[in-house]
Amino acid sequence: MEDFSNHSNNETFESILNAHISRRQALVGGVASAALLFVGANAASAQPSRSSLARSVFGARKSPKIGFSSIPLQSGPMPTIAQEYAMSVLAPWREKLDGSGTSFEYVGFTAAQQEQSVGIGHDGMWYFGSDSKGLLCVNHEYGTAPHMLGKSVPTNLDEVRLMQAGHGMSVIAIEKSAKGWKIAKSKKNRRITANTPATFSGPAASSALLVNPANNPVLGTLNNCANGYTPWGTYLTCEENFNGYFGATSSSWRASTSQARYGVTATGFGYDWHKYDPRFDLSDAAYANEINRFGWVVEVDPNKPGSTPVKRTALGRVKHEGADVVEGKNGRIVVYMGDDERFDYIYKFVSRDNWKKMRSRGVSPLDEGTLYVAKLNADGTGQWLELSTANPALATWTIDRILVETRLAADLAGATKMDRPEWISTNKAGETYVTLTNNTRRGTSGQAPADAANPRAVNTYGHIIRFRDGDKHIGTSFVWEIFALADNVFDESGQMFGSPDGIWADEDGRVFVQTDGEQPDRHNDQMLVADSKTREFKRLFTGVVGGEVTGVAVTPSRKTMFINIQHPGDGDNTRTNFPAKFTGAAGPVPRDSIVVISRKNGGIVGT
Ligand code: FEO
Ligand code: CA
Ligand code: CA
Repeated sequence: MEDFSNHSNNETFESILNAHISRRQALVGGVASAALLFVGANAASAQPSRSSLARSVFGARKSPKIGFSSIPLQSGPMPTIAQEYAMSVLAPWREKLDGSGTSFEYVGFTAAQQEQSVGIGHDGMWYFGSDSKGLLCVNHEYGTAPHMLGKSVPTNLDEVRLMQAGHGMSVIAIEKSAKGWKIAKSKKNRRITANTPATFSGPAASSALLVNPANNPVLGTLNNCANGYTPWGTYLTCEENFNGYFGATSSSWRASTSQARYGVTATGFGYDWHKYDPRFDLSDAAYANEINRFGWVVEVDPNKPGSTPVKRTALGRVKHEGADVVEGKNGRIVVYMGDDERFDYIYKFVSRDNWKKMRSRGVSPLDEGTLYVAKLNADGTGQWLELSTANPALATWTIDRILVETRLAADLAGATKMDRPEWISTNKAGETYVTLTNNTRRGTSGQAPADAANPRAVNTYGHIIRFRDGDKHIGTSFVWEIFALADNVFDESGQMFGSPDGIWADEDGRVFVQTDGEQPDRHNDQMLVADSKTREFKRLFTGVVGGEVTGVAVTPSRKTMFINIQHPGDGDNTRTNFPAKFTGAAGPVPRDSIVVISRKNGGIVGT
């Protein structure tokens, strides 16, 4: 149901290619570089190709240990895991946050109960603690009316409030007991929902674009997809498909240019909240700018349960998938971010100064700095294009407009249209991995053709690129290559997956890849572990029918990993009753849950 909304005329591969080839022809008599060879190759035979530039900066590491036995694809109602591993379930939707280990019932469930229990749509997360106890921050991306209410749409405000209370995120104290990990009783246990007071900070915080005629307070966070975490101990929760929650009650409403660029429509994704809550009614003039209040990276301090979530405007407003935070040269904070839409972009933010110095001055390192968008050249190089009024393409803009209408600014800057940038993860070796989940419209009628960084037209299965950023992450140029083209063919690399989404690169050179969407032969979503050097993939875990595998967090020793099953069975109890044993429609409505993974011999997860 999602539509692509980038109709800008940014440079296509053809013009880059033509420029590149004519330059090469002038230099070496028409020999195109290796990076170009896979362009136009068909999906089954295309292999990642590496430019000489990329060869010089990737693959120099030792192969990590990935010693488990890879498991087959599955399509059943329960998850499976490699034989060397054990798993258990933690914090399913509706479990009470009081540490009692009990859950609210499905029938008669209320918004007030939802605010005191784990939300739905478990997604990105991070763990702050020791190997036996700590705080787990978990995003709750979405829950549909059929799953949450057992009906196709909400029909009153109470039902809308229940759905809103299931969104957002949880801060959950957890501890390891003899029986495994469980929710602990703690004053820090907390829900942040679509109605929790929030605030804006950074260069656009006081922009008129973020104020409504109704003068209503800033409330809530929505469609919290992937995440990040900072060296100062806070959690970043990222607002993705916020457009889907808005709609118009008036038939005369029309999307503005900015709204259209963010995929805003009169019906949204069919949540129907706008029919009962005027904040989500695009045609209510009193709330004209409410939609601009979503699409941000939101900072939450899990150790301060009374603190207000802060929307960091310096990081721009897009459909933020995640926020991968790296400490760059001279202690500057660098945040890599994907905007998940067909033909949208990869961004990075660089703080103005050393993060410790900024914080000692009382300034957030996420409030002052420079936002960039990526341009990937066909020869394996790339540039970060500055999104500020210093960029001649944006000289007539204001910084607050650049940050609120970031997609439109990035169009003018000349960014490279990607195949749905999802998660980004940087390892200790400085390799940054980006999942491009799929884009079945690339190269179709009227759409951008395949290019070097998005080499397949009708890209059903997606791919993964990696780059090495210049000047220890703070530079304006980088080198990139394709890491893997996902496919339904079991090739020599052992990969067989589609729609890569979650990704986490550990410090030993393992790359954990989670999927959301089309899998070979319609199998369940899964989690694989890849070797960053050899690109060998092994399948560690398979999810449940109709559910997505997403979110990665680990304890400090990495001997415990937390991942999520999101929307098991798409909420349908005739397909799965997960986490309960499957008994069909007589069984419980399936519940989004965390799955705790450990190696039976006590080893690091992934070995
Ligand atoms: Fe929420 Fe793009 O996945
Ligand atoms: Ca995702
Ligand atoms: Ca996805």
